[in-house]
Amino acid sequence: TIKSIYGRRVWDSRGNPTVEVDVTLDNGLVGRAIAPAGASRGSREAIDLRDGGVALRGKNVMQALDSVNGPIAAAMRGMEVQDQQAIDNALLALDSSSFKEVLGGNATVATSLAVLHAAAADTGKPLWRHVADLYNCTPSIPLPEIQIFGGGAHAGRRVDIQDFMIMVPGASSFDEVMEVTSEIYFAAGDILASRGKAAGVADEGGWWPMFDSNEEALETLVLAIEKAGEKPGDRVVISLDIAASEFAKKGRYRLALEDREMDSSALIEMLGGWLNDYPIVSIEDPVSEDDPEGMAEFTRRFGDQVQIIGDDYLVTNATLVEEAAAAGACNAVLIKVNQAGTVSESIDTYLAAQKAGWGAVVSARSGESEDTSISHLATGLGAGQLKVGSFQRSERMAKWNECLRIQEQLGAGSFVGGASLRRTWWG
Ligand code: PGA
Ligand code: ZN
Repeated sequence: TIKSIYGRRVWDSRGNPTVEVDVTLDNGLVGRAIAPAGASRGSREAIDLRDGGVALRGKNVMQALDSVNGPIAAAMRGMEVQDQQAIDNALLALDSSSFKEVLGGNATVATSLAVLHAAAADTGKPLWRHVADLYNCTPSIPLPEIQIFGGGAHAGRRVDIQDFMIMVPGASSFDEVMEVTSEIYFAAGDILASRGKAAGVADEGGWWPMFDSNEEALETLVLAIEKAGEKPGDRVVISLDIAASEFAKKGRYRLALEDREMDSSALIEMLGGWLNDYPIVSIEDPVSEDDPEGMAEFTRRFGDQVQIIGDDYLVTNATLVEEAAAAGACNAVLIKVNQAGTVSESIDTYLAAQKAGWGAVVSARSGESEDTSISHLATGLGAGQLKVGSFQRSERMAKWNECLRIQEQLGAGSFVGGASLRRTWWG
């Protein structure tokens, strides 16, 4: 039974204030979680309640903490910690707004996840096992998507495309993925440095590159994979997050780096060209959240060839997943718990994706912390894929390292590898 809930202000990986929640049980056990924060946010996702004004650039979270320590704490006291659905329903009863603007999605997500942790502690299980048992899933270690170059909103819009990532579906263990990634990450850094194109690292730890075109990032990524001794498209493949909503305006797409503007079909044409020229197996938000025709068209044309993930497009919303599936838009969903605002709503979205025969990628935000809940969620659900950012900065490495620990508990054979991707996409 929940004895008390306490929210405190902590600081995220970008140095912004965020919400941490402790859930204490009658038996003294504690569950804790920290709300992450996005920068390239979908317009339909749960909002982070921020205080506004000038202090802390308007980003303070004292109102969200008031939600936790006031109405949320009062409602949760005495509730059964094992009943995650009832807990999340209670949060929804306190805030029935569309985007959780009453309590703040940052308040609800930290609470909901902290309850999940407390429930795991209560049963004496690791979090991944608790998740697997609670939702009747077969746990497995996910295949990571790891960023090598950061762009878009995470790198001062130096390049328009947001994430240039690798996946290592040909690896036979999570360890092997880490090893291969390290080689490629530093090979990419060396190439940038030797060409005078390194500007440091972006928000998620990927290199912040000074490229002259978006495609130069792809060419350089292929080179880095080769330099690391790999054959691109073999053990290692490429994954992109276009995050097209970020450069869309009134139905047009503007690539600032190349001083180029195009309509939806020209963008689809350009991306289709990349799919043919590079070993890309996955692409996220290829068109904007306001371009359903474009998304359906892209999926119709390339859905057999690559994984097409909706992030801003679906905002971890079960209804949006059902509608998109019916419209033939996307074939995979990104699961970000704070887009939904509660664990239960995120699980509903995951289940809707499964029902549609879609893939699922559990994902971090660009603003993160030492919280490793998503490593456990991805594993416990057996979701198949995990997107955390790059291979630098401890808020990223904490998640990868946690997967290594979980792999020891689950056994080496528990890594899904390329099985999480459709055969026609890879291998
Ligand atoms: P965000 O972006 O966390 O900054 O919103 C991550 C993503 O687009 O996947
Ligand atoms: Zn995205």
